[in-house]
Amino acid sequence: MATGLRKGLTSYGDAGFSLFLRKAFIKAMGYSDDALARPIVGITDTFSDYNPCHGNVPDLIDAVKRGVMLAGALPMVFPTISIGESFAHPTSMFLRNLMSMDTEEMIRAQPMDAAVVIGGCDKTIPAQLMAAASADLPTVVVQTGPMVVGHHKGEVLGACTDCRRLWGQHRADKIGEAEIEQISGRLAPSVGTCMVMGTASTMACIVEALGLALPMSAAAPATHADRRRIAEASGRRAAEMAVSGGPIPSQLITPASLRNAMVVLQAIGGSTNGLIHLTAIAGRAGVKLDMDEFDRLGREIPTLLNLKPSGAHYMEHFHHAGGLPALMRELKLHLDLSTPNVAGGTLGDAIEAAEDVPGQQVIYSFAEPLKAQGAMAVLQGNLAPLGAVIKQSAASPELMTHTGRAVVFDSVEDLTNRIDDPDLDVKADDILVLRNAGPKGAPGMPEAGYLPIPMKLARAGVKDMVRISDARMSGTAFGTIVLHIAPEASVGGPLAWVQSGDQIMLDVPRRRLELLVDEAEFSRRRAAWETTPRRELPRRGYARLYETAVLQADEGCDFDFLRRNGQDGTTD
Ligand code: FES
Ligand code: MG
Repeated sequence: MATGLRKGLTSYGDAGFSLFLRKAFIKAMGYSDDALARPIVGITDTFSDYNPCHGNVPDLIDAVKRGVMLAGALPMVFPTISIGESFAHPTSMFLRNLMSMDTEEMIRAQPMDAAVVIGGCDKTIPAQLMAAASADLPTVVVQTGPMVVGHHKGEVLGACTDCRRLWGQHRADKIGEAEIEQISGRLAPSVGTCMVMGTASTMACIVEALGLALPMSAAAPATHADRRRIAEASGRRAAEMAVSGGPIPSQLITPASLRNAMVVLQAIGGSTNGLIHLTAIAGRAGVKLDMDEFDRLGREIPTLLNLKPSGAHYMEHFHHAGGLPALMRELKLHLDLSTPNVAGGTLGDAIEAAEDVPGQQVIYSFAEPLKAQGAMAVLQGNLAPLGAVIKQSAASPELMTHTGRAVVFDSVEDLTNRIDDPDLDVKADDILVLRNAGPKGAPGMPEAGYLPIPMKLARAGVKDMVRISDARMSGTAFGTIVLHIAPEASVGGPLAWVQSGDQIMLDVPRRRLELLVDEAEFSRRRAAWETTPRRELPRRGYARLYETAVLQADEGCDFDFLRRNGQDGTTD
């Protein structure tokens, strides 16, 4: 039952006076009594000049408002933090939990019966889903949608898979200064999110699979008329949910829907960041994701989606090939079709309505997949007691089982200073190791896990090497790269005591990551680490809160005090 402006009237102990004051002030904006008597749908405004991925948010807000009003409710737009990947120092991951707290508290603080949250760039939908799960008000997520593709010299380009490849060619002197400048104007040719299967696209699919965004909403381009129609329809549904009171996020984010999301994450060749975010979202719903099950799914569920970086195409092609409902139809036997969604139906209904697009080459069938295995594998071993992850769908098959000599970098700064040193002792079959780049170490777990190939090897034509770290990697990157090693080095994970020259064994088929030193030496190094001085906590502000409370990658890097403890809504 909608309460509109009356919601949360407790401030003065006199409900009548509180309502009178609320009305008096909001009427300054010219609202009528009729408008103020309606159910209210709050809409987050995440537009920012620093965030091109959200450049279409004003248009989407217009469309959401139209939908809300067509359904007879009152839309109220309010700002929250906006995080764009390229302008978030020290990292966008550092700010994700801040955005989730901001969004949760503003949804709680202001009178609204339902919310529409508009997000897109990598950390924003995760933050909004975490907030929605915690606030537990009926919520519809509207993705900003992917940008259209770029073109250069007759080649189709994608941000930012091709950013790395082309920059690699520039580093290897194959592309000159003038051309790389020209390319910088062509890689991201419209507003919207990166149009490959990076983290933004991954999370756009995850939110649709979880049921918090409308069917067919994941892949519609940011500039396409479909995107605005989705926004209008989302506003309409939010208004209806404001009246009916549901479904609420706790009815949507369940063990069954989270398992569906894990299946989708594997089948789309999703970003490794997606796993961290899904773990954090699950934590807000009081669910612990089962990593063994996720790994099992990686063996059972093939990669079906032919999108970069695992495949060839882009998000707009996915949309025109039938989008996520058509992909999920291929996975039907592996999904729980009874999970509800914000459209008012079930996942099964969304699949029933999926379009069949003859001749499309983007969504492969389960029987004849793009790759036999799913996106990711979860590794264990003495180097990663709490696990690590590798995106096997975007790695070199010949490096999946590899033993090599460690070349260790102690920090991102150390890496920057030495990776291109002509005197660096490194060979193509070595294993590059980066540490102190985890959630607390860097801090903010930067996307530094994609260690560049040392210049002298790149020039000699080396395209891939095994690289391991406690960092993250952009979902748009390709390579044999082990990430999220937990615990991270800076809290005493064994990664802290690897030495250059050690042998490391990676065995993805057996899911192992091992430092090949004997037990006695391993213990001796652990004991030595225990006595090394710790870095001091930041003295103040959000940085202090962050470093005090952030959890490891295997727990989604949420703050310890934000997770739900049990099903009663209390936090620990
Ligand atoms: Fe925003 Fe890629 S930079 S989605
Ligand atoms: Mg990214």
